[in-house]
Amino acid sequence: MTTLEIKDLHVQREGKLILKGVNLKTGSGEVHAIMGPNGSGKSTLAYTLLAHPKYEVTKGDILLDGQSILDLSTDERAKRGLFLGFQYPTEVSGVGYSHFLRTAYNALSKSLQGSNREVFITVREFQKYLKDNLHKVGLQDDFLTRYLNEGFSGGEKKRSEVLQMAVLKPTISILDEPDSGLDIDAVQSVAKAISEVSDKDSTTIVITHYARILNYLKKLDYVHVFAQGKILKSGDASLAGELEQKGYDWILESQ
Ligand SMILES: Nc1ncnc2c1ncn2[C@@H]1O[C@H](COP(=O)(O)OP(=O)(O)O)[C@@H](O)[C@H]1O
Ligand SMILES: [Mg+2]
Repeated sequence: MTTLEIKDLHVQREGKLILKGVNLKTGSGEVHAIMGPNGSGKSTLAYTLLAHPKYEVTKGDILLDGQSILDLSTDERAKRGLFLGFQYPTEVSGVGYSHFLRTAYNALSKSLQGSNREVFITVREFQKYLKDNLHKVGLQDDFLTRYLNEGFSGGEKKRSEVLQMAVLKPTISILDEPDSGLDIDAVQSVAKAISEVSDKDSTTIVITHYARILNYLKKLDYVHVFAQGKILKSGDASLAGELEQKGYDWILESQ
């Protein structure tokens, strides 16, 4: 069981306060959605969880299994099992997809020793594992011969982030707008892929602006409304439907 606890988190970027007291607690096997208007600070929260250097925590704490991770670097946090799927994945020319994933997988397996993970010794074994996962998220084999995200379409980039989650099997996955820029069919299949790779040992946090992707998740335990730099309201999956119908204003007005 792994818990992530965000306590009264205040974060600024270039002197501007963006997160103004975020509180959230998650446990293994749970799927959480964080929904909120554009510009409210959702990506800021995601970046801060992974220690992006531009974001400065001025107050509050982030705890993994009760221990503060604020002093840990991005690399160290990733090795503790935190994963971020980017809203805007970067193209990295010259870095082969398969090589990148094998290196990352092995580093994580070494670090999460004792947990229930296969260990792949040979490239061939890893390729087989990779291909199985590739098909799970609806990508073709030729992906593995390409450079990381280079020339990927919008939909492919989003699937690629879910593929990384599937392959690496992080303890806590934060997916920042895995649905942005996708047409409805692609949203549905990305949601399916997310559901496929979420399991009882991991936590999945889906950040989104629209409720539609949430409708396609097989399991959704909590929905949090994020606005004005904090979580204003939490509920079960039915809250997503309410937001889809009524928008965000009624919550903002009730503050
Ligand atoms: N690169 C940046 N430089 C300065 N301000 C930024 C930058 N990126 C985001 N912000 C500001 O931080 C706030 C929160 O942005 P963000 O976390 O991206 O929100 P969301 O993901 O909810 O759309 C916004 O007011 C935005 O203008
Ligand atoms: Mg964002």
